[in-house]
Amino acid sequence: MESMAIISSKQPEPDDRQDGEARGDRKRRKPPSEENSMPKNSAPRNLAVPASAMASSVMPKDGDLLQSAARPDEVGKPEESLRPKRLADYIGQKDLKEVLEIAIKAAQKRSETLDHLLLYGPPGLGKTTMALILAEEMQVNCRVTTAPALERPRDIAGLLVGMQTGDILFIDEIHRLPMVTEEILYAAMEDFRLDITIGKGQSAKTRSLDLQRFTLVGATTKVGALTSPLRDRFGLVQRLRFYDLDELTPIVLRTAEILSTAITPEGAAEIARRARGTPRIANRLLRRVRDYVEVKLEGAIITGTIAAEALERFNVDPCGLDWTDRRMLTVMIESFGGRPVGLDTLAAITGEDAQTIEEVYEPYLMQIGYLQRTPRGRIATPAAWKHLGYQPPDNQLVLLGG
Ligand SMILES: Nc1ncnc2c1ncn2[C@@H]1O[C@H](COP(=O)(O)OP(=O)(O)O)[C@@H](O)[C@H]1O
Ligand SMILES: [Mg+2]
Repeated sequence: MESMAIISSKQPEPDDRQDGEARGDRKRRKPPSEENSMPKNSAPRNLAVPASAMASSVMPKDGDLLQSAARPDEVGKPEESLRPKRLADYIGQKDLKEVLEIAIKAAQKRSETLDHLLLYGPPGLGKTTMALILAEEMQVNCRVTTAPALERPRDIAGLLVGMQTGDILFIDEIHRLPMVTEEILYAAMEDFRLDITIGKGQSAKTRSLDLQRFTLVGATTKVGALTSPLRDRFGLVQRLRFYDLDELTPIVLRTAEILSTAITPEGAAEIARRARGTPRIANRLLRRVRDYVEVKLEGAIITGTIAAEALERFNVDPCGLDWTDRRMLTVMIESFGGRPVGLDTLAAITGEDAQTIEEVYEPYLMQIGYLQRTPRGRIATPAAWKHLGYQPPDNQLVLLGG
């Protein structure tokens, strides 16, 4: 679902976008105040990267559930239509919103561009959404790309020279930037200068171009994997938290309204409770419940009971754990008897790659206190034992200091 494309200013934005996240130039903007000193032929201005080349490998496992039942009106943009467009509509993340509100107001007051911003946190919490909102609030264009698509220096160079004053460049999965690209970003972020090497070996020449002042918004699920020179160049580094029940419930109600689905507050709360603190999952579960109700119950209103019954069918338990979570925890309990288990072992057991386990599954299990990372491996906590119907061993309580 997370594939992206870059839409350049020269290309019309297709109506029926394949990707859910790209956004082209379609904004009024402040007139560019500075002379653009960029030579016209230095790098391709138009850049189109096939979405397939950018497919993200970090993806919630139940992503395929989502794709199976998209409706005609949602095909190709299941998420786009649900994204809040303005800061005021962005529910939750109070601290983040406060910081960004101040940054936006200050930048506007001084007619400056926003500081470079790094957003980090597990998938589906609203990083991409926030980047698009910033562009909307600042009335600038947002170019969306993802780090693995910036393989060659000319990929990033093409994007950078196309930026106009104040524009936002959103790079998703920024921890996966190739080193050559990252090094180009250093000067671009700090001095708004593009240093490119032309030719190879002895005849190689370095050229330097001035860039317009732009704002880089980076998103990552793995902030620890960023190099410090890159991290240090962000003026703002913000973490997104998992959402509380009273934040996710209004998100479900809002989505239900957009989808014209009848739901009671209890129904919304039941879906929110099982959504792992994650808006993307909440929206996905709502769609599944909506399908269930339409097919099995002839479009009845979604109540708490109905939502619970439908989600049971989809193997989402009352804590939001799915098959992979339960399999991981069960093996940790049954086969390892509470001893630490290595990440690679968990990957082998569940058939997920280690990165997905680390970035998608574990953060939530740790958040709800079901899993701990120790230097020797992962441990299922007594709460996890109880949730799955096991009696935790006494010595583990000692081990965990519980
Ligand atoms: N604060 C929020 N309020 C309402 N909906 C949200 C919020 N954050 C995320 N969403 C919904 O969740 C979906 C996933 O958000 P996204 O920004 O793509 O997450 P990320 O980029 O962090 O993986 C979006 O389509 C949006 O509908
Ligand atoms: Mg995203």
